[in-house]
Amino acid sequence: MASNYAVETKGLTRSFGDRDAVRELTLAVEPGEIFGLLGPNGSGKTTTVRMLLGLIAPTSGDAQVLGCDVRSASHKIRERTGALMEHDGLYERLSARENLRYFARIYGLPSEARKTKITELLRGIGLLDRGDERVSRWSKGMKRKLAMARALVHDPEMVFLAEPTAGLDPIGTREVRETIRTMARDSGKTFFLCTHNLNEAERLCSRVGVLHRGRLIACGRPDEIRASVSRPTVRLGLRGKNERMMAEIGALPFVKSVQRSGEEVAVELDDLKRTGDVVRFLAAQGADIYKVEPVHRSLEEVFLELVGEEQ
Ligand SMILES: Nc1ncnc2c1ncn2[C@@H]1O[C@H](COP(=O)(O)OP(=O)(O)OP(=O)(O)O)[C@@H](O)[C@H]1O
Ligand SMILES: [Mg+2]
Repeated sequence: MASNYAVETKGLTRSFGDRDAVRELTLAVEPGEIFGLLGPNGSGKTTTVRMLLGLIAPTSGDAQVLGCDVRSASHKIRERTGALMEHDGLYERLSARENLRYFARIYGLPSEARKTKITELLRGIGLLDRGDERVSRWSKGMKRKLAMARALVHDPEMVFLAEPTAGLDPIGTREVRETIRTMARDSGKTFFLCTHNLNEAERLCSRVGVLHRGRLIACGRPDEIRASVSRPTVRLGLRGKNERMMAEIGALPFVKSVQRSGEEVAVELDDLKRTGDVVRFLAAQGADIYKVEPVHRSLEEVFLELVGEEQ
């Protein structure tokens, strides 16, 4: 039966020799969402996307993209999706406009539509006035943006992007992210990003899947993933020497650990709701508390922890 998800995989596996590059991957991506496949080098991201685009066959398991089976209908998938992988895949000797025209022709866009689309795309990446220059003279960031425009030339329903902002400066990065967000919101396109940049995933993606050695070790909203592994911790600022108090807090039943660095103390709790109890306890001992704040760990730290747990 055709899946209603933009991507649905069940037990998707791909081996190269005796190595499983992707192992038993089961996930679903909703239409219109920006999904991030996150993982360190060699974790299986590119292999997953290549299977989803029908460029390599799965060893076992199933996958559908836009309701099309990756084994039997990969030509349909490639018609209805766009992809920007690690390499820009541009023709350096052609101009930007010629590059886009070439790809638009491959997709069979009629000549009038082609012109309008190319102008719209070049304007979208802020390079309309440079469109007639040879791409070989362009900077890395400009090429990356053009490559993204190329992936959109046939107005695909879904776009696969590997490291979309790699090599871009902060302004370029913001522009590309804004473009992705706007397209997901206004035209309902689904985006499937591959990245090891957690910051990017956190800013851009509604949901992320974390791959490690070919296995999905976590999947959900970035904040859900953070909550699933992070222990609730409160940071206190205390003036003066409080050695004895530290030992006493450490012995409280709802405190799991106490770590001190200078005047700051990180207290790991069963639940952040216990913060008041810790503060009251310290205040009753006469502690001079000048700061109380919950510790929000970045996705980066959570990621290292998730990956570490799997070692
Ligand atoms: N054609 C191939 N032949 C043999 N092994 C392969 C092939 N393609 C991928 N692999 C192996 O599969 C594993 C996953 O590779 P993959 O390229 O999918 O990782 P990745 O997550 O995209 O990494 P990166 O972040 O570095 O791009 C690696 O161990 C890699 O060596
Ligand atoms: Mg890769």
